[in-house]
Amino acid sequence: MRFGQVTPITAGAGRGAGRRGAVKVARMTARLVVLVSGAGTNLQALLDACADPSYGARVVAVGADRTGIEGLARAHRAGVPTFTHQVSDHPDRAAWDRAVARSCARFQPGLVVSAGFMKLAGQDFLDRFAGRFVNTHPSLLPAFPGMHAVRDALAYGVKVTGCTVFLVDAGTDTGPVIAQEAVPVGEDDDVASLHERIKVTERALLVDTVGRMVRGGWSVQGRTVLVGHHEAAANQARQG
Ligand code: GRF
Repeated sequence: MRFGQVTPITAGAGRGAGRRGAVKVARMTARLVVLVSGAGTNLQALLDACADPSYGARVVAVGADRTGIEGLARAHRAGVPTFTHQVSDHPDRAAWDRAVARSCARFQPGLVVSAGFMKLAGQDFLDRFAGRFVNTHPSLLPAFPGMHAVRDALAYGVKVTGCTVFLVDAGTDTGPVIAQEAVPVGEDDDVASLHERIKVTERALLVDTVGRMVRGGWSVQGRTVLVGHHEAAANQARQG
């Protein structure tokens, strides 16, 4: 499925499970695979949230595109399995993409969350995880896409920036927006101080958004994403 088409996707996890049938089933949690490239503070926020069973999800694996990063160390400390695929270990980018997609798929995720993963996913990955591949970005998209969102926002002189959680499509930070939160730019801000402040908001937004998605489901109609009230719909996030 490609975004831009009017193709509703609905998915959900857990809370409504068993409500309709005569037989009650235990509430299931959605399986998250989180992709990281660096410090992994967004990953940590998800790990912390998942410690509460009522959150509705658990991190079943963490994937990375490089070794020796704090994001992987956070996963190890939490006892979460990891996998790493460096582009240089593969004959080409498409082979790398297939390897990442295969490793993710092995953990049967309901949602894949790119949390500071500094690589664009290729077609194989997008095909496998269309509609359930979530990314977080440190600007109010569509303003300032790309690798240097915070630097670009400062250079432009905006007074308000923020963060965006969105569904990934084939473009660079162009997918349908799920949630956004504004962050004011201070007169004394530099890239580091502004990014740190955005990240405080970003972590809370990511945790809140993923939680609402896995508990209440979501639908996509064109570019409009609606989260919640989809319990009776497909349970894609539970099933992976
Ligand atoms: C986040 O601001 C994310 O949006 C950007 O890189 C940062 C990652 O932070 N792409 P962390 O690794 O989760 O601490």
